[in-house]
Amino acid sequence: MQLKRLKSASHPEDKQRRQYHISLAPGEIPRYVLLPGDPARVAKIASMWQEKKKIAEHREFITYAGKYRGANVSCTSTGIGAPAAAIAMEELLSVGADTFIRVGTTGALKKEIKIGDLIITSASCRMDGTSSQYIWQGYPAAASYEVILALVEAAETVGARYHVGITASADSFYIGQGRPGYKGYSPSWSRNLIEDARNANILNFEMESSVLLTLAGIYNARAGCICAVIANRETDEFVQEAGVENAIKVANEAVAILHDWDRRKDKLKKSHFYPSILKQNVI
Ligand code: URA
Repeated sequence: MQLKRLKSASHPEDKQRRQYHISLAPGEIPRYVLLPGDPARVAKIASMWQEKKKIAEHREFITYAGKYRGANVSCTSTGIGAPAAAIAMEELLSVGADTFIRVGTTGALKKEIKIGDLIITSASCRMDGTSSQYIWQGYPAAASYEVILALVEAAETVGARYHVGITASADSFYIGQGRPGYKGYSPSWSRNLIEDARNANILNFEMESSVLLTLAGIYNARAGCICAVIANRETDEFVQEAGVENAIKVANEAVAILHDWDRRKDKLKKSHFYPSILKQNVI
């Protein structure tokens, strides 16, 4: 077996700057990256594109690149949880990406959020451990307003039922989200978790958005998150893959919308999107 020597232990990349985990080099992906956790979801996301090609696969990180409605787009799976998501984002930033949309699944905390609905995250509670290794807990995990707005616009276009609000990201699917563990194990702090979160107007639990939004803040990138509701913690229902197709449609559409807004911003030499930019005649 051929052993591959990388640049250094602190910069694990090869001579082409191909990154160790995601196996991508600068120039191979566009600025817009969709980030599902599930590697199997990458091909589903790309199946809606007009052009698509699998360009990398290493461990849980599978990447496709292609074109959706005129926008160059790519999609990389992050695996489950904050540590792997942070690795993906670090390396994707290093190869040139600057706009990230997580396309995930989630458990809703409120009865009125139905199975199959979509949740667009405005900000995330940092209940993960990885983001705390980057910066103090007081630092916000806020989604980019441009990405939130593009996701809302896209959800309206697709005609999907959606909610916008605060998400909580945990490092643990069971205890950390108030589910009993093996043989009913349930530490006291976890028993009131769902009720406390619901009372604080938190809409949902998932496992990756807080670290992605925190890193986007630190590195001056844009990030957002859309999740399909596959579980409801009040009604105690769980339906695998419910709403995932709609979440994918909305995320792809949001990339096309952001691409259009970015083009308008460039033409008008503006650094931020604002609604009346759409009324200006930009060819
Ligand atoms: N993903 C999670 O992290 N929690 C859920 O309840 C469902 C999906």
